Amino acid sequence: MASFIPEEKIAEIKDACNIVDVVGETVLLKKAGKNYLGLCPFHAEKTPSFTVSPDKQMFYCFGCGEGGNVFSFLMKQQGTSFPETVKLLAERTGVALPEQRQTPEQKRRLSEREAILDLNNLTVGLYQKTLQRDPRGQAARDYLSKRGFRPEVIDAYRIGFAPVGWDNLTRYFERRGVPLDVAYKAGLVAPRRQGQGYYDRFRERIIFPISNHRGKVIAFGGRVLDDALPKYLNSPETEVYRKSHSLYGLDIAQAHCRAAELVYIVEGYFDVIALHQNGIRNVVGTLGTALTNHHVRMLRGYIGQSGRAILVFDSDEAGIKAAHRSIDIFAREFVDARILVLPPGHDPDTFMTKFGPEAFIEKAQKTKGIMPFLIDAAIERHGTSMEGRIKTLGDVAEPMAAFDDPVARSVYIKYLSERVDIDETAILERIRQVASTAASGSPEGRLVRMAPPASTMSKNGSAGSPIERQLVAMMLQFQDILPEVRKFNIVALIEDPMLRAIGQDVLAGEDSAVQAKDRPENEEHDTLRRLKAQLSLREEVWDYRGCLNFIHHFVATRNRQEATPLYEQIKQAEKDHDEERSLQLLKEKQKHLDRLRAYQKKLDS
Ligand code: UTP
Ligand code: MN
Repeated sequence: MASFIPEEKIAEIKDACNIVDVVGETVLLKKAGKNYLGLCPFHAEKTPSFTVSPDKQMFYCFGCGEGGNVFSFLMKQQGTSFPETVKLLAERTGVALPEQRQTPEQKRRLSEREAILDLNNLTVGLYQKTLQRDPRGQAARDYLSKRGFRPEVIDAYRIGFAPVGWDNLTRYFERRGVPLDVAYKAGLVAPRRQGQGYYDRFRERIIFPISNHRGKVIAFGGRVLDDALPKYLNSPETEVYRKSHSLYGLDIAQAHCRAAELVYIVEGYFDVIALHQNGIRNVVGTLGTALTNHHVRMLRGYIGQSGRAILVFDSDEAGIKAAHRSIDIFAREFVDARILVLPPGHDPDTFMTKFGPEAFIEKAQKTKGIMPFLIDAAIERHGTSMEGRIKTLGDVAEPMAAFDDPVARSVYIKYLSERVDIDETAILERIRQVASTAASGSPEGRLVRMAPPASTMSKNGSAGSPIERQLVAMMLQFQDILPEVRKFNIVALIEDPMLRAIGQDVLAGEDSAVQAKDRPENEEHDTLRRLKAQLSLREEVWDYRGCLNFIHHFVATRNRQEATPLYEQIKQAEKDHDEERSLQLLKEKQKHLDRLRAYQKKLDS
């Protein structure tokens, strides 16, 4: 099939679907560490060695060497061509392909998303108007002003009010010719139990629009004005709203998070707004749901590698629970997370009102990291009797095992050892036990870490030396190191052409080459794709210093290797009394030395 599909469409489709879901439709996958494991659909096997990584959006089979992204998976599995596969995934994800390629179904889905967003926007306007100037909004205005919220924040967060009555919004839509089934798909109305038609979901509630990071309203939350239950009513998940991917206030907070390299994570709508109103604008809300790795990854994009997240809780108990739940997410994403617990009876909103922003910031500066927080909390709970200390160790061994980073781990071990007066080696032993029972729960857990069979590599032909593979794996998995890689122009030093191609790809900033390489189905491109998948999914933990050392080592080795034949040639030329050649070789030697010196200078800088 001759066709042209723009690269950005392919990227969009890739972003819009999750390889775990796609593969999971046909392969039973089980979570194992950060990846998923199942039986390989491409070769017969008894023990699962087929690995799917949600982080990398890639798959790799450690048994047969098959690997790639979501497109290559479907192509291989269904035997479809690249354009067919793209079309299929575009349909599923609702990504619009250029006009002539769209089926009616594709058009329908796309316009559905757009229609929902439009409708949400329209609804925000109506609710805002009601809050601002409708007589029916008086109680809500009074409520908000009594709680101390000023018009600027109410405007900034586009807060509104849904008045009493079952059909205000429904009739508003009808008057404007809005199809109510779209309103239903937007989660704004619900079908009547008896008879036909729909009724308004939000009635007599203060309305908080929930936006995506670009400020498009994707859902709503509504609070009662009194003590009625439920206190908050929220939109259901829709075509445009996924709870695990949304953070309240992110659209407003993102620039401030970037500037401060810090984000405050609070629980409630009013908490976000109260902080904002008091000048703390790098704040987002989880809206009472658990923090997911998507959330953390999104935030990390704003606060950056050296950024910090401060989770704010209104009780020790809530803090401890959340810390246990989210510690491995933060550890895995290498985000420095801290826990701030407010004094009893306070949430961020009431704290702000009573003590003001300075007191809050002062508290924030004194926060502990998640791990020390958990250690201290366990000691507090269990006391310092012998049994208490043992219980403490039992409580914290598992969260501690979440830290793969040996430096972080040893710091925490030392801290714990001092606090409970238990020997460091005993603590380490206990953590190892916990870690290994966790791994042995899934025998596959070990498989993931297993090196690929040598035959796979030789089948793939030129896969370079282990050190070159390591280098490219590092580039794929630890993007923070790329400036250093660029600085030393290391990719040029990679001898293996496949590895060099992947390296160049990574530096180019996208996987454009590998995407393009999904297309031609020739041998070489297949190998490249597999190799990339394999290197991306190698289980490795990277730390900045280690990588830097590795790069220096690589550069030094390359220089030495390069020089060895040269030095031998010089010796030979001198032996042969070939003056011309020896002069030429000596010039080359000088060049080499200059280059070495240049590298050395960079190393020192
Ligand atoms: P809280 O109960 O702490 O409420 O719930 P709050 O945010 O402090 O609200 P105020 O100050 O009493 O008005 C924290 C968050 O959990 C979600 C909401 O997002 C809320 O902001 N929640 C709570 C619900 O979704 N439904 C509920 O019934 C209660
Ligand atoms: Mn509150």
